[in-house]
Amino acid sequence: MALILALDQGTSSSRSIVFDAQGHIVASAQQEIPQHYPQPGWVEHDPLTLWATQRDTARQALQQAATALASEGRSLGELRAIGVTNQRETTVLWRRDTGQPLARAIVWQDRRTEAQCARWRAQGLEATVRAKTGLVIDAYFSGSKLQWLLDNVDGARAAAERGELAFGTVDSWLLWQLTGGRVHATDVSNASRTMLFNIHTGDWDGDLLALMQIPRSVLPQVHPSSHIFGEALAGVWGPADAMPASLPTRIPIGGMAGDQQAALFGQAGFEAGLAKNTYGTGCFMLMHTGAQAATSTNGLLTTAAAQPDATPAYALEGSVFIGGAVVQWLRDGLQAIQAASQVQSLAESVPDAGGVMFVPAFTGLGAPYWQSDARGAIVGLTRGSTVAHIARAALESIAFQSTALLQAMARDVSAVGGPPVTELRVDGGACVNNLLMQFQADLLGIPVVRPQVVETTALGAAYLAGLATGVYADRHAIARLWQAERTFYPTLSRERAAELMARWEHAVRQACAG
Ligand code: G3P
Repeated sequence: MALILALDQGTSSSRSIVFDAQGHIVASAQQEIPQHYPQPGWVEHDPLTLWATQRDTARQALQQAATALASEGRSLGELRAIGVTNQRETTVLWRRDTGQPLARAIVWQDRRTEAQCARWRAQGLEATVRAKTGLVIDAYFSGSKLQWLLDNVDGARAAAERGELAFGTVDSWLLWQLTGGRVHATDVSNASRTMLFNIHTGDWDGDLLALMQIPRSVLPQVHPSSHIFGEALAGVWGPADAMPASLPTRIPIGGMAGDQQAALFGQAGFEAGLAKNTYGTGCFMLMHTGAQAATSTNGLLTTAAAQPDATPAYALEGSVFIGGAVVQWLRDGLQAIQAASQVQSLAESVPDAGGVMFVPAFTGLGAPYWQSDARGAIVGLTRGSTVAHIARAALESIAFQSTALLQAMARDVSAVGGPPVTELRVDGGACVNNLLMQFQADLLGIPVVRPQVVETTALGAAYLAGLATGVYADRHAIARLWQAERTFYPTLSRERAAELMARWEHAVRQACAG
């Protein structure tokens, strides 16, 4: 059976997973990434460390896979492709001749270019940027970060003008390393997060490049997410004698996509109306809108979905800033629990939140509220309230925020006559929490479906790579592999759910007022 190696370079760790063609995990390895905070609001990663940790985890996963396969009389000779997925927006700039980065990568969370973005907003550029890129003007995206590097790293702009530099999001950087500096490319889903890419023409946008003073020569070539981007050569994993002899000497890199779009693909979300929510530190919700780029009037982003072929594919995206992080706060801030795993039993020790509402607006509120000044609030406390009620309300806040997002998406999609969402597919660390998933289904009024393989990000990259290399005949073959582990059906009346959402919105208004 064919095998596929998925490289998943995330914000906090690098992971590598070997999948078989059925989407089962054969072996995996993970390493943490050091975070650098040189100034308040700045977040950086060392690009060479991103590559080194990714390469080392790949080597470990391949070695483990070789051992596991040997016991079945199989070998890594079955490895057919590599798929890459990554933290999006994070900006790397390197020299084409030496492959040396000019500076640390500026991470998507970094806010140093906020003032520049505010100036562009003040110039009235919001509508133009949204129309071209589907994005709001924000320091989150790569464009202003790249401009900052060109303007602030000694000699960078002159070198860029001479065509000596390459820019990339983390997918491009890894591809460059995997191919020994032969290929400088990206995929549409990553390109669509740069604020430099026109999602309608499928090309870098001349006006935006001029606005941000970005020379075209630094930009990677853009391809669909499923595409033979290049080949990883034998020596790339480290000393040849450390690698299983059966490892192919050339492995095609057949898929690349930003992690959230890869997760939607790994959830077999290729058609309009399919939505997924990833419950991590924050939550990322994406809804596929087919070949139509839906424009949000509810504060959501329009983005390129992972694109299996030349046909454009779009999604609406919204994120919750504090998702699972609220459980960390219960542990470290409130000290109500000693380990995150205790939250479910504490929350389950009471039948409901007893009227307590917890709005975890620790860093403001994202879509659909966009209230950067909002701060956290716990409301509805009585003499009978206990820490268990607060824990339950904290868990419920993740579902309330996600419901507000999905409702906003549904409004946007119905405005353009798109299909209704009939279920929500879930993944990410906190989706193992059954109480949370049940409450999510109760609020949404649609089934919440947890798949058997919750590593959907890496799986999506593997599927994209498998499509390009003939492991899968087409998308239908992949859709048939997707299997539910558990479906949570709504049990609450729609009246009661609406009442709860109204109380949540009231609590949000209080958090915004405070
Ligand atoms: O847009 C940022 C997102 O891609 C980061 O994802 O999982 O690395 O935190 P993650």
